[in-house]
Amino acid sequence: MNITVIGTGYVGLVSGVCFAELGNRVICVDKDSSKIEVLNAGGCPIYEPGLKELAVSNRAAGRLSFTSDLADAVRQSEVVILAVGTPPLPSGEANLAYIQEAAQEVAAAMNGRKIIVIKSTVPVGTNERIAEVIRSRTKQPFDSISLPEFLREGSAIKDTMAPDRIVIGADNPEAAEIMVQLHKPLTEKIVVTDIRSAEMIKYASNAFLATKISFINEIANICEKVGADVTQVAGGMGFDKRIGPSFLNAGIGYGGSCFPKDTRALIQIAGNYDYQFKLLRSVVEVNQDQRFNVIRKLNTVFDGEFVGKTVAVWGLSFKPNTDDVRDSPALDIIGELLDFGVRVKAYDPIAMDSFRELFGRSGVEWCGSAMEAAQGADALCLLTEWEEFAKVDLFQLQRVLQRPILIDGRNVFDEKHLLGTDFVYYSVGRPSLNQGVKERVPVL
Ligand code: UGA
Repeated sequence: MNITVIGTGYVGLVSGVCFAELGNRVICVDKDSSKIEVLNAGGCPIYEPGLKELAVSNRAAGRLSFTSDLADAVRQSEVVILAVGTPPLPSGEANLAYIQEAAQEVAAAMNGRKIIVIKSTVPVGTNERIAEVIRSRTKQPFDSISLPEFLREGSAIKDTMAPDRIVIGADNPEAAEIMVQLHKPLTEKIVVTDIRSAEMIKYASNAFLATKISFINEIANICEKVGADVTQVAGGMGFDKRIGPSFLNAGIGYGGSCFPKDTRALIQIAGNYDYQFKLLRSVVEVNQDQRFNVIRKLNTVFDGEFVGKTVAVWGLSFKPNTDDVRDSPALDIIGELLDFGVRVKAYDPIAMDSFRELFGRSGVEWCGSAMEAAQGADALCLLTEWEEFAKVDLFQLQRVLQRPILIDGRNVFDEKHLLGTDFVYYSVGRPSLNQGVKERVPVL
């Protein structure tokens, strides 16, 4: 199949590369010529494990190319996939300007029947709106398909090549069948439905996963008060097939370019139809507050005295294995520490540059290694569960810190790691692991 993918962000680039890996001929298009230059030079504009290698091998095999010439790409393809960004507007609603613009350009280039697929996350009804935009600009026939994306950053290739399911929203069964054939090599679990339901499946899935995270974070907060261990609780809950074990890791809340944006967008979509999505509002509120538990725990160990203290921060990306820092809890936590007069020393294995750029504030000391950040600090906050942090020698760490205080925002360490160390250790929802505190200090 000849496929054009418009937009080389996470969704577009990963999809394009994976469709090429399946043997299709794929052209990836981006307006941003600097990204195209990087890709044509064998590089990758984003950090995603395995992506660069797969792009290079498929390009060498002649199945994958990169260009800024949208019209030429569209003319060569039967299937055109729109995967441009839909960033949030101040209201929380998705900004559809980029997708509309891309649709207009596609319409202007059409030279025969096309299947036009929307992979970007868009509010219910957007596929119909975009179809109208195209219809108003061309007499050429086309079919609309909603093909929501479920990949996760950091495991995007695996999620795309071995998905839990594929959802295809279509109003023409023949176009739906072509999409089914395209995805059949990946999975048998293909849901074919109407376009509006497909659009809703995407938002409902992300909103549900976000709800699971806020739920377990609230359980963790209660565990801290009653003396229970949230990892035991989540494990015990997860054996129930109706609940399932995944997305029950308590921590400092979700970040990234998807859950924060999509939960707010769904609240807004419901509001547009006079429906108050009360549950999801609480999910967002709980998530926003959860990250500040790190500060509350520091407040406890510092006895309220932040000024002049040095705090090391390990982990800046919103999750491991990505350089994406959008809506990362580290942005708020470091911002608050600086506001409190703390000297912050930060380190991340991959996301230092992207964080520095998005954070935009001065005053943080950027360090070249985890130990360099910890050197001389009064406390260490672990905010992203990168594998290299879990492997650290805690005895060496305790020697370089000024005071052995460790606030583990992602429950990376456990009893056997801490055995024999002097750490004053706070994790999330596991009060029994708090060490070095002679009397139990209530966490605010
Ligand atoms: C999420 C969804 O998982 C994907 O299915 C979806 O395709 C994607 O959004 C999207 O809409 O494009 P992603 O944001 O890449 O993927 O990452 P996740 O692995 O879902 O993690 C999101 C956040 O939740 C991270 O900050 C992570 O630390 C946090 N999280 C996740 C927890 O705090 N606890 C958990 O148990 C799981």
